[in-house]
Amino acid sequence: MPKEVFGPDYPFLKKDELLSFEEITRLTTLFTKASSIEKLRITGGEPLMRKDVDQLIDQLRRATKIDDIAMTTNGVMLPKMASRLKEAGLKRVTVSLDSLNDKRFGEINGRGIGVDQVLKGMDAAAEAGLGVKVNMVVQKGVNDHEILPMTTFFRKKGYTLRLIEYMDVGTSNGWRLNDVLTKREMIEKINQVMPIQPIAPRYEGEVATRYRFIGSDDEIGIISSVSDAFCASCNRARISVEGKLYTCLFATKGTDFKQMLRDGSADEDIIYQIHSVWNRRDDQYSIERTEESSRNREKIEMSHIGG
Ligand SMILES: C[S@@+](CC[C@H](N)C(=O)[O-])C[C@H]1O[C@@H](n2cnc3c(N)ncnc32)[C@H](O)[C@@H]1O
Repeated sequence: MPKEVFGPDYPFLKKDELLSFEEITRLTTLFTKASSIEKLRITGGEPLMRKDVDQLIDQLRRATKIDDIAMTTNGVMLPKMASRLKEAGLKRVTVSLDSLNDKRFGEINGRGIGVDQVLKGMDAAAEAGLGVKVNMVVQKGVNDHEILPMTTFFRKKGYTLRLIEYMDVGTSNGWRLNDVLTKREMIEKINQVMPIQPIAPRYEGEVATRYRFIGSDDEIGIISSVSDAFCASCNRARISVEGKLYTCLFATKGTDFKQMLRDGSADEDIIYQIHSVWNRRDDQYSIERTEESSRNREKIEMSHIGG
């Protein structure tokens, strides 16, 4: 959790407030019955902090038959966990790294995590046979001058970099519109040195716009949920650790499923509830966002809803 959220008095949930692996697997399987789900992502918080998370991946893969299981992680525990995750059926990891400068990265993560630790995690994942992508959240005046060094570095390494516009998820990060470097500005910076051209999305609802460096097969992605929102094609359902379904990253509340999982509700009733929430969704916060609406909305923190 970021330093703005986590402190000595942080009210951790008790173990029985969290969904068990069996409950997560049952709920996920019911989602696959309710709709045509093709991809799962385990995120957080830090998903590798959950003990034996590889067993959850194994259970999910067996029960849902979904092959495309990915994880977003800070990468720190990957040297220890990568082989176990691969064996369990994880396909790829997205590792978060916002800077190649130790001091700056330490300030951004607020946890004293060093750049080398994260790079070692990425390499361990690649050695274990996992696909590796890198997420860089770009903040104007903080790390925007690192776009080119990061691009060059990860192009050489062969890991696809994704530049993410700084978003106002949650209420704790003190977001201002002025802190956002837009997709257009990012492209301008890259084009000056390594011209890129857009390429077609791999599937409907892909959040990153993909670009190819002209004259090569190397790619870079840009996620532009502030300057060029993609609410209309968003097809993500997020389940929090205590069993709430969120239909938007900028949601203010979710729908509880833990109660139904624990009160003996039949599969059909849970599927019915999934349909009714999904069919009612009309979220389009990113399209309507202004600095004022951002300030006045009590959004769920990113560390809770998972990015
Ligand atoms: C909330 S983190 C959770 C997973 C894991 N702990 C990690 O560090 O990757 C998921 C992703 O959200 C992205 N993220 C965090 N804060 C963000 C913000 N304010 N705007 C845009 N993306 C953000 C980061 O790129 C990160 O890769």
